[in-house]
Amino acid sequence: MRIVCIGGGPAGLYFALLMKKNHPEHHVTVVERNRPYDTFGWGVVFSDATMDSMTKWDPESAAIIKDAFNHWDDIEVLFKGTRQRTSGHGFVGIGRKKLLNILQARCEELGVELTFETEVNSDLDFPDADLVIASDGFNSRVRNAYTEIFQPDLQQRPNRYIWLGTNKLFDAFTFDFRKTDHGWFQAHIYKFDDQTSTFIVETTEDAYLAHGLDKADQDASIAFCENLFSEVLEGAPLMTNARHMRGSAWLNFNRLICGKWSHFNGQSHVVLMGDAAHTAHFAIGSGTKLAIEDAIELTNQFQIHGHDADQIPAVLSDYEDIRRVDVARIQNAARNAMEWFEVVGERYADTLPPEQFMYSMLTRSQRISHENLRLRDADWLEGYERWFAASSGLNVEADKRSLPPMLTPFTARGVTLKNRIVVSPMAMYSATDGLIDDFHMVHLGSRAMGGAALVFAEMTCVSPDARITPGCLGLWNDAQKDGWKRLADFVHANSGAKLGCQLGHAGRKGSTKLAWDGIDQPLENGAWPLISASALPYLKTSPVPKAMDRADMDRVKADHVAAAIRAAEAGVDWLELHCAHGYLLSSFLSPLTNRREDEYGGSHENRARFPLEVFEAIRAVWPEDRPISVRLSCHDWSEGGNTPDDAVIFARMFKDAGADLIDCSSGQVWKEEKPVYGRLFQTPFSDKVRNEVGIPTIAVGAISEADHANSIIAAGRADLCAVAKQYYSAKAQYENNLERAAR
Ligand SMILES: Cc1cc2nc3c(=O)[nH]c(=O)nc-3n(C[C@H](O)[C@H](O)[C@H](O)COP(=O)(O)OP(=O)(O)OC[C@H]3O[C@@H](n4cnc5c(N)ncnc54)[C@H](O)[C@@H]3O)c2cc1C
Ligand SMILES: Cc1cc2nc3c(=O)[nH]c(=O)nc-3n(C[C@H](O)[C@H](O)[C@H](O)COP(=O)(O)O)c2cc1C
Repeated sequence: MRIVCIGGGPAGLYFALLMKKNHPEHHVTVVERNRPYDTFGWGVVFSDATMDSMTKWDPESAAIIKDAFNHWDDIEVLFKGTRQRTSGHGFVGIGRKKLLNILQARCEELGVELTFETEVNSDLDFPDADLVIASDGFNSRVRNAYTEIFQPDLQQRPNRYIWLGTNKLFDAFTFDFRKTDHGWFQAHIYKFDDQTSTFIVETTEDAYLAHGLDKADQDASIAFCENLFSEVLEGAPLMTNARHMRGSAWLNFNRLICGKWSHFNGQSHVVLMGDAAHTAHFAIGSGTKLAIEDAIELTNQFQIHGHDADQIPAVLSDYEDIRRVDVARIQNAARNAMEWFEVVGERYADTLPPEQFMYSMLTRSQRISHENLRLRDADWLEGYERWFAASSGLNVEADKRSLPPMLTPFTARGVTLKNRIVVSPMAMYSATDGLIDDFHMVHLGSRAMGGAALVFAEMTCVSPDARITPGCLGLWNDAQKDGWKRLADFVHANSGAKLGCQLGHAGRKGSTKLAWDGIDQPLENGAWPLISASALPYLKTSPVPKAMDRADMDRVKADHVAAAIRAAEAGVDWLELHCAHGYLLSSFLSPLTNRREDEYGGSHENRARFPLEVFEAIRAVWPEDRPISVRLSCHDWSEGGNTPDDAVIFARMFKDAGADLIDCSSGQVWKEEKPVYGRLFQTPFSDKVRNEVGIPTIAVGAISEADHANSIIAAGRADLCAVAKQYYSAKAQYENNLERAAR
């Protein structure tokens, strides 16, 4: 085969050498516009896993690369006058120039034809090639020539960064956070050879503009950074190697995903590789790793299918299928880490104490968990656990083992929870006339005895027509209050748990069959009329609700108040107002379900008006020393619906009205929703609400291991973790986990 790699970066060079090595009969050429020793950038970092794979595929080049690597284990964070360090993180760094030179030399040794100082205009310039590799980097001319086929999806990220170097040597991967009059700047610093360290400075667009950096050239930008980071630089100058750049030296990161990676141009097969196909933010330093791994997988597919031009379509198809999954995984982790740095100033740096700030930073990609940190640096983690326990009011004696964060107490008003685990409300559809009976006593009593600190019963309806189904619990009469008292007395007498009652009204999602007879399906017998913010049915087949008038609002508010008084009298410890999942109060908050034109529709203030009225009314009758949380759908997962930004606005309003916590759920508001599920998929909403609004939160959603809960609580992404799915609905997730563990 004749193979041409357009672009001699890590992707093109490594693929060229692997193919030539595995099949010397191939004619392999790399065409690069730069001279062999010209290059942009400073150092790149790899993980040990990438290095292992390179050793397997070409031990010769791997040995030289390993030799040239600088290995370091420590991460150091400079923040608000503190300097914190942890170990065991295992990175290797190498100069980009050095890496390319090693790969170039190895290519030459194996007989790859290297052509430098040649700008390629088009993949069509190589009519004899069987395969053209578009390894021409992020600005790929080849990809841009076929945008309809490759469907590049580019997203320009808001932060600005400048990539510099310094001769000061750092013995740890160092992060330095500095606050200026106009916002925060952070430096990502790592040594990559005996004389040089990479020094990337990053900030928000606002801070960049406010400091006039849009008008700053390389020299002015360097002077600015040297001054800002003088403490960590200790007089060492910063250097640029991008003198060719005109205008501001500050860049935006562009996230790239392509819909398709290969194409037949009429004479050759063309395939994207490395930065031409995808990018991953430098916050987890994976661009070079991905480029190298692409090269390995494409070679691997030739090994599997055979080194024959006829096999190219099958090879390219399998290459794309396999790499797409791995790349998405890394891009996901990179996105979490990148977003952390995009919001770090106001969300974390201004709010978290240095210890927790460090923990939050270390776990920013959400791929490193609490127990993973223990494997890396047990002493540091133990110290952090002690600090966390102390800040939760516990004094762990020096000779005792520290406590995991989820087992520390949490206090809201006069209620102290013994730990951070909450049983989330779960409709059981097993009540008659809204009464607590033996089923609820056993179900909730056993949850309380199981060790959770707070046990919520299911959504408890404030009137008969507030129910979702005829099997829902209620609190609209004294017989129901007596049932709650029996339950509260049992929980208090037999466990250290507190009992929570979630008050709610089903709104337009009411009057439906029991779950096992058809979720959301309208009742055929015994149906009752529905009310909602607007006259919109939930399903096409659901009855049309009445848009509430003032009299309806007064009645619903009074029903909530009466239920709250009964709950207090029954000895319930904690109240939650259900403003999520498309039920009545949620239907006011979402613009999808609230189409009102009066003072209860339109702006955030108007949409929140009735839910806040209800909240204030129950707060007024609920005992002063007991907390009330508010459950919100923090994302409608639907075009035109609420997003986490709206949740922040509503959370702030509830906080001002006296809410103690926000319980951060999502969805179930709009039937056509497109939720993106995954591990801890709602935790980012809790993180955002907690740290932007400054109110304690409950995280919920696919939190299935103690390790998850510890990581969330320790990082300050939530104060409490709620878990729900038990019984049958958790079966699929449990089976998936077992399958994954067995792989
Ligand atoms: C600030 C910053 C920090 C980074 N830090 C890291 C890090 O720590 N670790 C890491 O792994 N990655 C890092 N990266 C990413 C890394 O640089 C890239 O992901 C990686 O180099 C991709 O390799 P590639 O071969 O696909 O593309 P490139 O390295 O971009 O190579 C493409 C090559 O093609 C050549 N070329 C382009 N067009 C033509 C043409 N028309 N004709 C001829 N030649 C052409 C270019 O000159 C270039 O040599 C960082 C990136 C940035 C911006
Ligand atoms: C059967 C079932 C019933 C539920 N009922 C309620 C409810 O009454 N009120 C509520 O706010 N959430 C309810 N939820 C949502 C849960 O409280 C929780 O937010 C959700 O299941 C995600 O957590 P998990 O992944 O741990 O299950 C219910 C969930 C399930 C599975």
